[in-house]
Amino acid sequence: MTGIKEVLFTEEELAVKVDELAKRITEDYKDKNLLLLGILKGAVPFMADLMRKIDLELQYDFMDVSSYQGSTSSGEVRILKDISAPVEGKDILIVEDIIDTGITLSYLKNLLLHRGANSIEIVTMLSKPDRRLKDLDVKYNGYDIEDNFVVGYGMDFDERFRSLPYVAILDESVYK
Ligand code: IMP
Ligand code: MG
Repeated sequence: MTGIKEVLFTEEELAVKVDELAKRITEDYKDKNLLLLGILKGAVPFMADLMRKIDLELQYDFMDVSSYQGSTSSGEVRILKDISAPVEGKDILIVEDIIDTGITLSYLKNLLLHRGANSIEIVTMLSKPDRRLKDLDVKYNGYDIEDNFVVGYGMDFDERFRSLPYVAILDESVYK
């Protein structure tokens, strides 16, 4: 496809990882009150795949957040859409497409703990560990990647390429 330089993870490779993560989550959340919390919009494809492989009764909800660019280390995050139901007593599993600096999720984790969630863990398909600015405990991690800008499987560049079924590295020509 135009704008795509290289496929990093195929649809099959993503599905293998979804299966692995779902198995672990099914085991770990047997006696819990699981609430999957997807972060819009990037987590949508991963969330839809993951929830159907978790062999448990669960609930799901979404939040939309945006981190202020520029003052990146301030850790300030704006909530564009909040979670609908109370989180007290819930075992929340935040579902993300990719973790970069970790600022968004470290803020969210603290916020949800403050609101009385029973537990909070994170599942992400991708992570860029070299870019981390906040110490973040990511219990369920799909693939680690280097510091390349990637798109597809929910991830976008300027709202483009989200619907690709694979993860790809963007061609530099797109930035221009
Ligand atoms: P951070 O961990 O708070 O820095 O932000 C993570 C968010 O930045 C992700 O949920 C994505 O929305 C976005 N992001 C980070 N790296 C990429 C990328 O390579 N492609 C697309 N979106 C990205
Ligand atoms: Mg995101």
